[in-house]
Amino acid sequence: MMEIKIIKLLKENKNSFISGEEISRKLNVSRTAIWKHITHLRQCGYEISATPHNGYCLEKVPDKLLADEISYELKTKILGKKIYAYNSAESTNVIAYNLAEQSEAEGTLIVAEKQTKGKGRMGRHWVSPVGCGIYMSLILKPKISPVEAGKITLMSSVAVAKTIRNITGIAAVIKWPNDVYIGKAKVCGILTEMSAEMDMINFIIMGIGININTPQSSLPDIATSLFIETRQKVNRIVFLQAMLWEIETYYNKLVKGCFSDIINDWRDLSMTLGKRIKVEWRGQMIHGQAMDIADSGALIVRDDFGFSHHILSGDVSVIR
Ligand code: BTN
Repeated sequence: MMEIKIIKLLKENKNSFISGEEISRKLNVSRTAIWKHITHLRQCGYEISATPHNGYCLEKVPDKLLADEISYELKTKILGKKIYAYNSAESTNVIAYNLAEQSEAEGTLIVAEKQTKGKGRMGRHWVSPVGCGIYMSLILKPKISPVEAGKITLMSSVAVAKTIRNITGIAAVIKWPNDVYIGKAKVCGILTEMSAEMDMINFIIMGIGININTPQSSLPDIATSLFIETRQKVNRIVFLQAMLWEIETYYNKLVKGCFSDIINDWRDLSMTLGKRIKVEWRGQMIHGQAMDIADSGALIVRDDFGFSHHILSGDVSVIR
């Protein structure tokens, strides 16, 4: 707690020195205690210069997803109110699921610098190299019916695509149901997992993996990152804070029942609608046209024989 306060003071005095005496007076602790905290902060990666006459100056914040940095000036009300930040995790979704089973509150965020067993959809692996992506999971407890859970998945992809557009200006698009693409390459994947009874949701884990500053050499060929696209490093903390805000805004709309706003935004961002696609559904391969998205979140496909299908899950490939 004291270290958060010290960092806050240093940030308020950005680019200038603040004396040990002033920090000591403002925070009501000894100068020796401050020195110890500064030493620890440096070990955590903060670059803080110190001179006997002038005091301390914050030169650089570490490029790490530290809980205190994410919390600093975070504008959300529910999401990220509690944060667990790991240097390494097998999978943030697994951690989140276990926490939720032990009654962890809604909105809790789990982030990791790397994952050793990152989980993708359909049993796949999510490549999670250290220090360059955002690998995170949120615990949500929406008061909606389990059959509506697909809506959560859709709205998360809208929030991610919008954040990418706002921060980088790149025209990110969504491939149904919730992959975010830049051109032909995937930049973000979302894995939502649910614990539910017949008629109520216990909790939903919204797991999001985004390639932010990841070099192509660390990614599969079919994937991209914001850095690969822009040639510029993106501040992961700023991105994460903006994204949490977007997700919360959409989440509030969703639980209030304003789903049509979300669907409309999803349609605007979709790379799937109107395209010829193929998708495996209930053991058969369907070829046809992606017509629309239903209120349930299902993809409506008209196959080549003129029959309509409501596809609830699966892997869509856009043909042509
Ligand atoms: C996909 O297959 O497209 C979904 C990928 C989801 C990856 C994220 S990274 C953070 C969270 N923890 C996991 O183990 N998976 C999700």
